[in-house]
Amino acid sequence: MSVTGRMKKMTLAELNRKKKAGEKITMFTAYDYPGAQMAEEAGMDMILVGDSLAMTVLGHPDTVSVTMDEMLHHCKAVQRGATAPFLVGDMPFMSYHADPFEAVKNAGRFIKEARMDAVKLEGGENVLPAIEAIVKAGIPVLGHLGLTPQTATALSGYKVQGTTAAARTFIEDARLLEKAGCFGIVLEAIPSPLAELITDEINIPTIGIGAGAACDGQVLVYHDILGLYDQFKPKFVKQYAEMKPQIVEAIKSYAVEVRNGVFPAAEHSFSMKKEELKNLLERDYEWV
Ligand code: KIV
Repeated sequence: MSVTGRMKKMTLAELNRKKKAGEKITMFTAYDYPGAQMAEEAGMDMILVGDSLAMTVLGHPDTVSVTMDEMLHHCKAVQRGATAPFLVGDMPFMSYHADPFEAVKNAGRFIKEARMDAVKLEGGENVLPAIEAIVKAGIPVLGHLGLTPQTATALSGYKVQGTTAAARTFIEDARLLEKAGCFGIVLEAIPSPLAELITDEINIPTIGIGAGAACDGQVLVYHDILGLYDQFKPKFVKQYAEMKPQIVEAIKSYAVEVRNGVFPAAEHSFSMKKEELKNLLERDYEWV
């Protein structure tokens, strides 16, 4: 903690130290100001403003249609809510695929406009030119291998990856991402032994989601941890709270109290004697 009572800002050097020391890295998604404040208060090392917000917050069926402007809007809110965690903005589908020049320009917007510390993008060898160009511009990049939701259609759905001979590709891709300058790699939905092998093979931290306990850190989605998203629950999700029924109950109680006149009570109202108001308005008023 600093003298102001805030936690110290997480840095890339500290993330690396954690990997070397075998201290687990904690990462959590947040999409707005209160979510970021709570993640910070809970002591998260890293916050990912994931493009999962397309589904959990914007109600899309997948992550492909979220735009750069929508992502930046949420990143700005998160940045206002959290100062200590290392902040990663997720580059949306097609914001880094067409050409490296455009990828650098879009990555730059996450840093300059939304004050993120780094960007994340999905893919291996296929996105290497974009990663190299972004790193060269001085922007830290978090890679993402395994199940890559932006291209889930091409992968035939949201399913575990690396269960065939293609497992070798992920090891090679991880090495390539490290060489290209990524500071870490998210490993999503791959068998635990494969994630362990990759974690041992590279010198940068691996952050797992559905990739077992050997990864250097773990990431989960806000709405999944809190039980706020019930459209789809992957096997790797552990739900730590059941918030949705509690929230619905609270809203219902409010509606009941409004309907039966219990809310607002005197303590929620601003009082004034009717006589005072009459004098103020300088006329008599027919109170009903
Ligand atoms: O968008 C997201 O939330 C992610 C995590 C699942 C890693 O990419």
